[in-house]
Amino acid sequence: MSLLRLKHADTKRILTLVGVLILLSLAAILLSSMWALGVATVLAFTGTAFLIAHYHRSTEEELILQAQDLQDLQFIQSALTLPRPLPYFTRWSSSPALAARLIGIVHRYRPTQIVELGSGVSTVVMAAAVRNAGSGHVTSLDHDPVYAAKTRHELEEQGLSQWATVIDAPLVTVETARGPAPWYDVSGIDGLQQIDLLIVDGPPRKTHKDARLPAFEILGDRLTPGAHVVLDDTARRDEAGSVDAWSNAAETVESVPSRKGICVVRMPG
Ligand SMILES: C[S@@+](CC[C@H](N)C(=O)[O-])C[C@H]1O[C@@H](n2cnc3c(N)ncnc32)[C@H](O)[C@@H]1O
Repeated sequence: MSLLRLKHADTKRILTLVGVLILLSLAAILLSSMWALGVATVLAFTGTAFLIAHYHRSTEEELILQAQDLQDLQFIQSALTLPRPLPYFTRWSSSPALAARLIGIVHRYRPTQIVELGSGVSTVVMAAAVRNAGSGHVTSLDHDPVYAAKTRHELEEQGLSQWATVIDAPLVTVETARGPAPWYDVSGIDGLQQIDLLIVDGPPRKTHKDARLPAFEILGDRLTPGAHVVLDDTARRDEAGSVDAWSNAAETVESVPSRKGICVVRMPG
């Protein structure tokens, strides 16, 4: 596995630099210009130095994150007793860091009512944590019936169906302070008013620019005093509105070191 992690913006910068170098080199050849040749040479050295520095930094960051993943996976394994392996953590799923934090919250605060937006590995992890704690229930909304069915199947296979319910919640147009947006149809959880732990890991970014923001307006007033809200993917620039909305209403906000960004928010008690 390559340890070099180039972000989209970095790739664009590198391609721009290579393009400028090619143009300058061509100009130098065509015009026999020493100036163009000099600029191309300086740019080539600077660009290479930048790449080497970036490689070292990103390799170091990645090694630290991999060590953290191992620590979190070890904690997950020791905290849960499961008859078969968890579904793999992927780039679509929660991370070991998120799963470990969720288990920690369930063990320490014993939330009774847990609501999750976006089902998957995290649903299974929380169902097992709730079972171990001996109380509580997870209700997970999924806009996609295929993934909802997959999560239900996984819960069944793990013997955890009684601890978690996956609800089909297609995206409908909801009114928000920033205008209409596609968001979960929450009619399936109308009776669920006292939420102790809310996990915001959906809908996916591709559904709307402010995909996660409506959670605050629609479910914010269903939270119990001192409830926890865990936000995933907070490193994405387009999640800033959602993070701000929750942070402004929170008593404490903890940012967990991770690749995609995690915020653990505690509401006033
Ligand atoms: C960020 S994912 C939720 C992940 C979930 N909390 C977990 O831990 O696995 C948000 C939604 O994306 C959809 N999804 C999950 N895996 C996907 C995949 N591989 N491709 C496309 N959509 C996916 C599901 O409908 C899910 O509810």
